[in-house]
Formats: sequence, structure tokens, C-alpha cells
Amino acid sequence: MLNDFTYQTPTKLIFGKGVIKELPKEIAKFGKNVLLTYGGGSIKKMGLYDEVYKLLDGFNITELSGIEPNPKYDPSVIIGAKLCKENNIDVILSVGGGSVLDCSKAISVCAKYDGEGWDLISGKVKAKAAVPIVDIITLAATGSEYDMGCVISNTAISDKRGYLDELLYPAVSFLDPEYTFSVSKWQTACGTADAINHVLEQFFAAPNSMFNDGIMISALRSLMTNVKIALKDPNDYSARSELMYVCSWGCNGILANGAGYSGWPMHSIEHALSAYFDITHGAGLAIITPRWMKEILSEKTVERFVTLGRNLFGLDKNLSDFETTQKVIDGFYAFFEETGIPMHLAELGVKEDKIEEMADHILENDSTNEPWMFAPLDKDALIRILKASM
Ligand code: NZQ
Ligand code: ZN
Repeated sequence: MLNDFTYQTPTKLIFGKGVIKELPKEIAKFGKNVLLTYGGGSIKKMGLYDEVYKLLDGFNITELSGIEPNPKYDPSVIIGAKLCKENNIDVILSVGGGSVLDCSKAISVCAKYDGEGWDLISGKVKAKAAVPIVDIITLAATGSEYDMGCVISNTAISDKRGYLDELLYPAVSFLDPEYTFSVSKWQTACGTADAINHVLEQFFAAPNSMFNDGIMISALRSLMTNVKIALKDPNDYSARSELMYVCSWGCNGILANGAGYSGWPMHSIEHALSAYFDITHGAGLAIITPRWMKEILSEKTVERFVTLGRNLFGLDKNLSDFETTQKVIDGFYAFFEETGIPMHLAELGVKEDKIEEMADHILENDSTNEPWMFAPLDKDALIRILKASM
């Protein structure tokens, strides 16, 4: 059964080897003044920075560098918005992973707003305009290149917030899988874990349909197969290209058109973990996933586990629902562990004495306990999941 829905993704995807040659033509559609945003230097190591300058000869380029993983409102977004205003920026060119792109998205609306930018990001004020964004994504993970979201941390108030607005869709996203050859094993595993979790957040919902289940299971199969290949051979184009494309589908709605909405509870939990301990997003999600699955198992949810068990893990139809579910939970745990993610939060520096505070924070800022949710989580449930994840 499908619910009613409206679907539109205005982003133009340009995918493949060497597609960057189209960059000047795409950028020129917006103007001459470009804000180039990037992170800690990976784009310089891989030669992409020089390549961009060569291609954009004749454009006026202003730079914002040093954007952090888990990008921060202060300083990055604030400085970026100021640079846009001072330099009359026509277009933001984001070159890097999801953090650089998310930061650029936040900058794009803050640059067109005269008040405190956090009011937009926190949803207090609705943005009215944004500077257009073109991006070259260098890490297969978040799907930010094809969605209308960004996630920004505000360290002053220990908050990490997902911000959604149609204004945040990039105008153009360049996806060249070769740019992901240099991604470390750790980021490859964490990026894939993030994308897997995006699928699961949408799979565990009601109603659902044979069609949506099919796309999501196919996405999971591709991610789980190709990450192992990419971890062994980082330059395997075939694996890197599938990872890149599947990740792009993660958050833009296409996987779950017409399906129910779960509320994305694992992301709510992980955002608190990153806000308090600045951990890598995908690693936090991988650790939470099997514990969350165990917590939400019920008469209502068991069918989802059985569908995954039979169609993704190829489990025998004669197994009981309980046995199937247990094998699915164990299967995800073993898979993440095999990709090199330590499966305990303590190993990432999370401290047990903050669990109760984080549970309160989640319920206050990013509720997980709404009656419409597929599997609501109250404070006790959040504490159980976090403790089991330690
Ligand atoms: O900073 P540089 O030097 O570029 O290095 C980065 C960074 O250290 C490096 N990297 C990126 N591309 C590389 C590379 N290293 C070598 N070769 C390359 N080609 O990888 C490190 C991590 O980068 P980051 O951008 O932080 O990773 P990711 O793309 O996973 O983004 C994570 C952020 O996105 C948010 C997360 O919460 C987190 O803040 N999310 C955004 C979403 C969205 N917009 O839709 C949804 C997600 O659920 C997620 O919450
Ligand atoms: Zn995510």
C-alpha cells in the first residue's frame, strides 16, 4: 500500500569519470563570483584543488577552507556567510565530503539572511532565499549531494541539528567515483554504514510496499557487497561507482515514496552522540543499529525483520520469526565489525555517565517518542539502547 506523496528533486547529477570538465559551464550559469569551500586538505592531496583552479580560470574565487567533520555553526557557517555577503558571491562551490557540503548549504541560506543564522538552522525562522550550490562530492556517504538537508553542530549549546529546506538542494552535483579512491578504510566503512542506516531508517516504517522494499533491499545488497570490495581494493572503480550512486539515493526520499515515515530514530540518537563526543557519524550509527533493532522488536515490527532476513540475508523460510530476527541482528553486527568499525561506543570515547543527559537532550530536541512513529522510544528505551551500545 502506498500513501499519497509529492516527489521532486531539482538537483542535476553529473556522474562519471572526468565529468569535472563540465564545471565551468555549470558554474557560469550562476555568475562569476564563486565561494570555494573545502575541508582539511584532502582535495589538495588528490590534486582536485589545482584542477578546480585550472578549470575556473577567469572566475573570481574566494575561499573558505578548514571546514570540520561534523561542521560547526561557529566558526565555519558564520565566516562563510560573511564571505558571501562581502564578496557578492553568486554561487558556492563545495568540494569535499558531506561535512563541507552541509556547511555550504547552511552558509547558502545564512548569506541571504540578516539576523542570527542559527535561527534558520534551528527552525525558528523560515529561510526565504539561498545562494545556489554546485558541489563535487568526494566521499560516498551522506547523500547530501542529492538531498535538501544539512546537519550542523553548535558546540556552544552541545547541539547537532538536522535542517531541512527545499532551498538546500544543490543545483548541480558532480559525482566522479575516482575522487573516492583516496578515501581511507575508516571513512569508507563509516560512509557505507551511514548509507546503510539511511535505508534502514526508511525500511522500518509502515505502510510499506513490495516496490519500496525491493529498491531498499537492492540498495543494502549493493552497499554491503561493494564496501567489502572497496576496502580490499580502494581503486576498484566498479565498487566505488556503485557505492557513490547508491549513497546519493539515501536521503532524498526516492527510496520511500509513498511509505510511512519512521522519524529516523537512530539518527536522533547519533546526532546527540556526535554533539556530545564529536564521533564519526557512520560509526555511531553502526554501533547503535543492532541494539536499536533488539529494542524495537515486537509483534508489530517482526515482519520487517523477517522480510530482511529472507530477502537480504537469504535465510531459510522454515526458521521461526524469532530465529530469523536474531540472525538479522547478528548479521548486521558481524557485517559492521568486519568492515573495521569497533562495535562499542566506549571505544570512540563516549562516556557512560552522560547517557541520561543525552537521552533527555534527544527527547527535548529531536523527539523519538511520538505516537505516529513506527517504534517510539521513550527515555528508558533510549537509555537501554545507549547502555547496550557501550
Ligand atoms: O576535511 P578533508 O581534508 O576533506 O577530509 C575529510 C574528512 O576528514 C575526508 N575526506 C573526504 N573526502 C576524501 C577524504 N579523504 C580522502 N579522500 C577523499 N576523497 O573524510 C573525512 C570525513 O569527511 P566528512 O565530510 O565529515 O564525511 P561525511 O561525508 O561522512 O559527512 C559526515 C557529516 O554529514 C552529516 C553527518 O552528521 C556528518 O556531520 N550528515 C549529513 C546528511 C545530509 N546532509 O543529508 C545526512 C547524514 O545522515 C548525516 O547526518
Ligand atoms: Zn546519516
